[in-house]
Amino acid sequence: MPTNVLFFDSGVGGLSVLEAVRKLNPGFTYSYVFDNACFPYGELPSDFLIERVTSIVSDLVRRLSAGLAVIACNTASTVALPSLRSVLDIPVVGVVPALKPAASLTKTGVIGLLATPATVHRSYTQKLIDEFDRGCRIIRVGSSALVREAEKKLSGGMVDMDVMRHELAPFAEEPLTDVIVLGCTHFPHLRPEIESILPGRSLIDSGEAIARRVASLTGNAGAAGQGGTGEAFCTKSEPRLEGIRGVLRDMGLGELRIWEKGAL
Ligand code: DGL
Repeated sequence: MPTNVLFFDSGVGGLSVLEAVRKLNPGFTYSYVFDNACFPYGELPSDFLIERVTSIVSDLVRRLSAGLAVIACNTASTVALPSLRSVLDIPVVGVVPALKPAASLTKTGVIGLLATPATVHRSYTQKLIDEFDRGCRIIRVGSSALVREAEKKLSGGMVDMDVMRHELAPFAEEPLTDVIVLGCTHFPHLRPEIESILPGRSLIDSGEAIARRVASLTGNAGAAGQGGTGEAFCTKSEPRLEGIRGVLRDMGLGELRIWEKGAL
């Protein structure tokens, strides 16, 4: 029986991490849950998020007998990991902004951090900066507008390039920003659009590092075998789910069901 790995995000962002993890570890069954009822997470208070994420993830880990959980959301990971780890007896992998590799890569010493409004201001993020920035200047941009553009794109809609240019202006105005950390899992889905507005900058996300972390935690057992079809869950029915279903299928996820505590 392949191990079931549960992924969590507020929306479709975490699929960027799932893609990287599945590529390196194709032998597992992957399930994905997104909390679209409370989307976007970047504008919600920490206490609410800790309660909410712990409740959804712990319930599904139990029902699916998941052997590993990946919190594919920087906004949730930067507050909810201690709570999740205190209630779950399986490994919980969190996704946090890739500031350490950014600090090794920058030549100018100016790093961009593109994340949600919550993540850019978190004390967890400040701790990462203090630990790794080696005296770099950090330009922080917190944007829910870009999170919405990524959702729109994956639901089959057109990305609004005016919105993209407006949100990315602080980086365009500081050409010394040579490395930009995509500190929200929605943003790798907008990589081509970001690259077209900010050519020549290195964009770093956490996908491959998380894939290697999963491989090391599982003893690389997921590298062999076929894996299975996992399930997808969301927390609210809405019309745009029709567009998302195709993307979920392409990621090897089957039926999309509505999660409600105690009612699956
Ligand atoms: N994808 C999420 C992250 O990595 C959250 C986006 C949101 O809901 O604001 O932070």
